[in-house]
Order: sequence, then C-alpha cells, then structure tokens
Amino acid sequence: MTADLSGLPLSVIPRHLAIIMDGNGRWAASQGRGRLAGHSAGAESVRVIVEACRRLDIPALTLYAFSEENWGRPKSEINALMALLKRFLYRERALLRRQNIRLRAIGDLGKLPSATRAALEQTAEATASCDGMILTLALSYGGRQEITHACRTLSAQVLAGEIKPDDITPEIFESYLYTSPWLPDPDFLIRTSGEIRISNFLLWQLAYCELYFTSTPWPAFREAELMEALVSFAGRQRRFGKLE
Ligand code: IPE
Ligand code: IPE
Ligand code: MG
Repeated sequence: MTADLSGLPLSVIPRHLAIIMDGNGRWAASQGRGRLAGHSAGAESVRVIVEACRRLDIPALTLYAFSEENWGRPKSEINALMALLKRFLYRERALLRRQNIRLRAIGDLGKLPSATRAALEQTAEATASCDGMILTLALSYGGRQEITHACRTLSAQVLAGEIKPDDITPEIFESYLYTSPWLPDPDFLIRTSGEIRISNFLLWQLAYCELYFTSTPWPAFREAELMEALVSFAGRQRRFGKLE
C-alpha cells in the first residue's frame, strides 16, 4: 500500500501517469469568463497535481500542454498560452528543485517562441540533477509527427548503411521516439473534460495504457479527482493480451 491523500488506500500506483489537460476554455465559459482565465486556473491545477503526484511517489508524470494542432488556434490565444507557460516555468523552478522534480519536454520544441524555449531550457537545466520524479511537458507535440520524425531519422541511418531494414524491431524503432530512453510507456492516461479521444497524444506509447475519462474540466481537477482516478487504476486488471 502506498501513501494516500484522501484516506483512500492505493495498492498500485502508475509508474508513468499521462494527462490530457482538457477543458480550460469550457470551464471559463461556464463561469462567464474568457478562455485565458481558464488557462490560468489550469496552471494552478498543474501545480496541485504535480505536487500530489510527487507526494504519492509516482516516478513519471507527462502533461499534454500544447498539441501540434493547437498551433491552428487564434494567434492571441497562442501568444497568451506561451506567455503563461514562460511565467509558470520561471515561477515554479525553485519549487520543482525543492521537491526534487526534474523537468523535461517533448515535441517540436523548435517551433516555440524563443522566450518560452529559453524558460524551458533554463528550468530543465536547473532541475537536471533532480531524481524524485520526472515531469515531462508535451509541447508543440503530436504523436504522428513524433513517429514521422523517428522514421526520418531512422531511414537516414538505413541509407547511410548504419542499420539494416531487417534489424528494425519495435524496440529499435522506439529508441528513436522523443520519450526514449528515459520514459517508460505510460501505464495510466487521464483525460479531463468529457471528450473520449486521444487527440494525437503518445500514439505509439499508449499501446497498452489504461485509459480514464472524466467530465471534470482541467481547472477543477484537483487532488480528490486525482485520487478517484488512481483508485480506478488500482482496480484494473492488466493482461497485455495474455491469460491471467
Ligand atoms: C486545454 O483546454 C488546454 C489546451 C489545449 C492548450 P482547451 O483550451 O482545449 O479548453 P476547451 O477544450 O476548449 O474547453
Ligand atoms: C488536446 O486538447 C490537447 C491538449 C490538451 C494540449 P484539444 O482541446 O486540443 O483537443 P481536441 O481538439 O478537443 O481534440
Ligand atoms: Mg480542448
């Protein structure tokens, strides 16, 4: 049994929890506020959930913060999100260090504005020696783009004669993904706000992941909701295609 936050015993905790943080805009609209207010409240949920996962000794947490497809949103929302992310990274840096949390990022990071990228790099550097938990932000991230990127790198090596097509196994292929070699596949995925879809998140890595969908929007997703999800995970029977 591991520690609990709300009196609920947990027999199993995920080794790698992934979250699609959805519903900031709808949450704000339900309060008669603009979408940005939703993103700000969502940042507060990020802080609460990161701290809770650390306390629960979850070794890896990956948050889908901005998808490749999110670049198609209005410029004003993108700019506000990027500014919010930059502020969040600077503000949380000391806290991450204190809690021994290492920050990393996956995605097409070259597309991020340079000020946001700098904040990301500096926070990643400042927490590089932390080993209590790995917090990965998926930014400018798309699963199909990640797989395509891996294919491009791999095929260049095939052309250069460094690897033979017959030697490509799932394990070899995986080593070209953004998550390799430091992140195991997620064993639990939470999506907030009612949509029952993956939206291009970790397509390869989710092959045998346990999925959990809740109607709670991300800004309202706090410790109690996390515990409820983790209790669901603890009750899952994972078979990986085999018999018990
Ligand atoms: C999630 O909330 C945050 C991002 C995708 C950046 P949304 O902005 O998607 O909020 P909804 O889904 O429109 O309510
Ligand atoms: C998924 O949410 C991406 C993130 C949470 C960053 P979206 O709001 O972009 O997904 P769709 O458009 O509802 O599929
Ligand atoms: Mg959404």
